[in-house]
Amino acid sequence: MSNPIRLALIGSGGISSAHAAGILAHSDKVKCVALCDVSEENLEKRSAQLGGGPIAKYHDWRKMLSEMGSDIDAVDICLPHHLHAPAIFDAVAAGKAVLCEKPMCINLDEADRIVAAVERAGVLYMSAHNQLFTPALQEMKRRIDAGAIGKVRWIRSQDCFIAGKGAFEGKWRSNLKSQGGGELIDTGYHPSYRLMYLAGAEVAAVRGNMGRFEHAIQGEDTASVQVRFTNGVMGEIFTSWAMTRPYGTHDLHVVGDLGEIFGTGNRIWQLMRGEKEPAETVLPVVDTFTAQIACFADCVRNGTQPPHGPQEGREVLRIILKAAESADGWQETAPVQLEEPALA
Ligand SMILES: NC(=O)c1ccc[n+]([C@@H]2O[C@H](COP(=O)([O-])OP(=O)(O)OC[C@H]3O[C@@H](n4cnc5c(N)ncnc54)[C@H](O)[C@@H]3O)[C@@H](O)[C@H]2O)c1
Repeated sequence: MSNPIRLALIGSGGISSAHAAGILAHSDKVKCVALCDVSEENLEKRSAQLGGGPIAKYHDWRKMLSEMGSDIDAVDICLPHHLHAPAIFDAVAAGKAVLCEKPMCINLDEADRIVAAVERAGVLYMSAHNQLFTPALQEMKRRIDAGAIGKVRWIRSQDCFIAGKGAFEGKWRSNLKSQGGGELIDTGYHPSYRLMYLAGAEVAAVRGNMGRFEHAIQGEDTASVQVRFTNGVMGEIFTSWAMTRPYGTHDLHVVGDLGEIFGTGNRIWQLMRGEKEPAETVLPVVDTFTAQIACFADCVRNGTQPPHGPQEGREVLRIILKAAESADGWQETAPVQLEEPALA
């Protein structure tokens, strides 16, 4: 297929704006032909961002799939979490290639049925794990695989920021039924797949510890997860909507028996055992959403496999659900603080 793929964006809210920017940056590979959202306002906003023009607008993705039929090659799902599985099932049944935001879905029963449906239909499914395209992650992986720091022993993967107070209150992210959990299944999804990617082995054991410090949501707003891999690597995920990344630390830190590599975004540092100063490398900046859209379009056009498909989507979800399950009792010990504590 040499023409741009004809894509329908399902969900025109917050993150779809980054997906749309990726579509605009790769107009030679992908064209948005349809938008679907229950919100008229978000449909208009996204349509305007994409330059207006002949973009069909729908409120119901089933109607869109049936009316547009073979005028759509692929869908890009940017919906609340509980709607991922239903939209995936409908798109796969219609024979469309699928790019779906994280998490793939919210429970393992749905995940197993998605894996089976994708296999049965023989369609392409790409998990939108955009941070796989982060330059620091890719360069660390390359150096680790080349043996630069020896045998890996420990990895920490972090994603922390302060989400404004009330950011999720009363919205779908505050409800376990639509969110499928708390912060870990949302922002925490990224450091989870980054860790698994760097460890390069199956997960053997998982233990979670959750906190809820300042968000009026049913799930946690902060998670700390310990992971042991079958190759002996010890891993840690730390992720939060209630604090910034601890000062002096990095999104990624890997220690091997010969040295260590750490970094964030497009900057990494390598320090060999016995050395006092790490050597810094500044890599070209990459917009991970733009890179992700280009990769998906290439997979559809060339019939190649995406970096992460449904199996990887299922495995990240399994680890996250296990971490939440093992953090038994955290809800009772982490009350929601709706008010600022009194100063005296
Ligand atoms: N990769 C990332 O860094 C990143 C960042 C933010 C969000 N996300 C993911 O993107 C997805 C969407 O998150 P968001 O922040 O854009 O949420 P959002 O609430 O801003 O957008 C969701 C959109 O879905 C629409 N919608 C709800 N029900 C619908 C239905 N039945 N049919 C059609 N449209 C419907 C809403 O009107 C809204 O416009 C989530 O999976 C989230 O985890 C990923």
